[in-house]
Amino acid sequence: MKALIPAAGFGTRMRPLTFTRPKPVLNVAGKPIIVHAIETLQAAGICEIGIIVSEVTHSAVQQAVEDLPGVQLNFIVQPKMLGLGNAVLMAREWAAGDDVCVYLGDNLFEDGVSAYVRVFEEQRPDAVIGLVQVDNPRAFGVAELDGQRIVRLVEKPQNPPSNLAVAGVYCFSSRIFEHLAALKPSARGEYEITDAIQSLIEAGGTVLGQQVHGWWKDTGQPHDLIEANHLLLERLENNVQGTVEDSRVNGRVVLAPSAVVRNSTIIGPAMIGEGVVIEDSYIGPFTSIGPGTIIRRSEVEHSVIEQECVIENVETRLQDCLIGLRAVVRGGRRQPRTLKLTLSDASLIELT
Ligand code: G1P
Repeated sequence: MKALIPAAGFGTRMRPLTFTRPKPVLNVAGKPIIVHAIETLQAAGICEIGIIVSEVTHSAVQQAVEDLPGVQLNFIVQPKMLGLGNAVLMAREWAAGDDVCVYLGDNLFEDGVSAYVRVFEEQRPDAVIGLVQVDNPRAFGVAELDGQRIVRLVEKPQNPPSNLAVAGVYCFSSRIFEHLAALKPSARGEYEITDAIQSLIEAGGTVLGQQVHGWWKDTGQPHDLIEANHLLLERLENNVQGTVEDSRVNGRVVLAPSAVVRNSTIIGPAMIGEGVVIEDSYIGPFTSIGPGTIIRRSEVEHSVIEQECVIENVETRLQDCLIGLRAVVRGGRRQPRTLKLTLSDASLIELT
């Protein structure tokens, strides 16, 4: 079985983080989202992966996945952003009649995607779709089941037939491609993969639902990244290799070999990248800090800090923060206190 990861969209709901970089390359728990997706597929035994990119995401995505071992990556360009159904159709030639697992790489599964691949390979239906119980089915593709069989699938319905949402992992036989090729655009002007699956069902295809076990996280908006970071760091294993001077390092902490911690306290789970310098600071649980970042005389907790940031002299604890590449957060100790801000469009600063 081959796999496909759609990565053509920029992720507009993830703004302002995606003003400069596409969503698949944003880091969570020390790795780009798309690298987590590739590793999940590898763990399910799939090593031939097609990544669907657009002109605007191609180079950033390619750079983020360079040099990954044990996997054969192919880039397939979707010329126009016409929806998920169209994105997958672009891979028809590359799939060359093989089965494909389509994995929406912004969906994280505690137990990975092996269970769906296994059910597909054991039962040989035309499709297996991951399904998850949600409180807001109107925001998803929604399935109606008869036993294990999906008898109807609707995209973002006004009146959902159930609360079982399509969870972003689909295993298909090559039969799906003829239904993708025959799609008409939906009301929102997109070619929906959900409509192609419904057409497969109507043509007599066997489409099975496989419920998700363990947690599942769809990372659509910025706060989802903080939660995803939290969930992924839950399974972090201790590995302190960097320099620790006059400091306390407690709990499960990954400290890269060239990172330095001086006169500080780190409470894991926390992930600290290469070349990071932490001085006179506190780093609390569920924090990821990207390579080259410097933190001095500050407190950071439950946050994702990207590469090469500087956080200095911030008197209030930074909590639930997402801080992009090379961002600077600098406090001052002078009175009266003032705020001096240079912010890009749609930035969000909450002085809570
Ligand atoms: C897509 C699918 C939807 C599915 C969801 C899962 O929606 O169209 O059926 O439930 O992914 O994340 P999107 O997130 O692109 O709106």
